[in-house]
Amino acid sequence: MSNKFIVVTGATGGIGEEISLLLAKNGYNLILLNRDKAKSESLKQKIKQEYPTIEVDYFLVDLSIPKQIEETVEKISKTYKSIDALINNAGVLFKEKILSESGNDMHFQVNVVAPYLLMELFKPLLMRSQAGSKFPLIVNTSSNAIFMSSALKVDELKNPKKSGIFHSYANSKLALTVMSKRMANLYSSDGIKVFSIDPGGNRTDMTAGEAAPFFVRWFKMFLPPPSKGASYLTAPLLDKDFHASSGALLSSGKIKSIPKKSDTEEKVNDLMKLLKDMTLGK
Ligand SMILES: NC(=O)c1ccc[n+]([C@@H]2O[C@H](COP(=O)([O-])OP(=O)(O)OC[C@H]3O[C@@H](n4cnc5c(N)ncnc54)[C@H](OP(=O)(O)O)[C@@H]3O)[C@@H](O)[C@H]2O)c1
Repeated sequence: MSNKFIVVTGATGGIGEEISLLLAKNGYNLILLNRDKAKSESLKQKIKQEYPTIEVDYFLVDLSIPKQIEETVEKISKTYKSIDALINNAGVLFKEKILSESGNDMHFQVNVVAPYLLMELFKPLLMRSQAGSKFPLIVNTSSNAIFMSSALKVDELKNPKKSGIFHSYANSKLALTVMSKRMANLYSSDGIKVFSIDPGGNRTDMTAGEAAPFFVRWFKMFLPPPSKGASYLTAPLLDKDFHASSGALLSSGKIKSIPKKSDTEEKVNDLMKLLKDMTLGK
């Protein structure tokens, strides 16, 4: 068993649950950030039964509420001196516009603001990781919807003109992906690696939901199980042939470029300013 601790968000089902099982199987201890107590407890018991030496801790947090994120990281920081990796897996896809408590589009709040805040708040713990050349690292969960969207629209993140997978969802995942690349740069002197990974299409609640495009719902039985996406998202930790540089975007295991129109200096600066103003700059 290793002495490494990995934080995983959104481990109550789908890809996040599979990430947790795969990491436990490979000897990693887990700190799970979930909303649902019963599902968290049931996963913990399952892991403890299959892998009794693995430590599993979970913290209940609604990732759409920044205050809860801050309080949770504070609690974790009191218990743990360091963490070795953060996997920002939790994500949402809605058909209609849904607003967070602070009045922002929920895609932006959960898919971008939460991972950004977690990265910044966990940075001190990540910097104390003593776990060798692969670590510390952060994985942010991108999506292939970013390749089917027009360019990133920073001014529409908080209040999109249209909702759905190819609009506000794709825009949020584009924002997450360009933010990850910039953060990889900013964190390089601290030794923290940052990757954006698209897990490909997987058979989960998200792809079965009414916000998924009709062709995805029709062909969902042909999609692989979420263990496939989990293997992509954990590749920086588990795949001995993983050699991508920090800042890379990988889609279904292959290195890809962020669509050029979305990755301009001006857009990234505007996005980073927005994120700072909304969170740590308050
Ligand atoms: N499935 C695919 O084909 C696919 C493709 C590309 C990218 N992705 C990305 O992969 C990630 C996982 O997707 P999935 O298919 O496994 O989705 P899923 O089955 O819907 O699971 C989403 C997870 O996120 C959690 N979550 C959502 N909102 C939350 C909040 N406010 N606070 C705390 N947790 C929250 C959910 O918790 P609850 O149980 O409490 O709702 C659940 O654990 C997402 O980022 C998604 O965008 C998926």
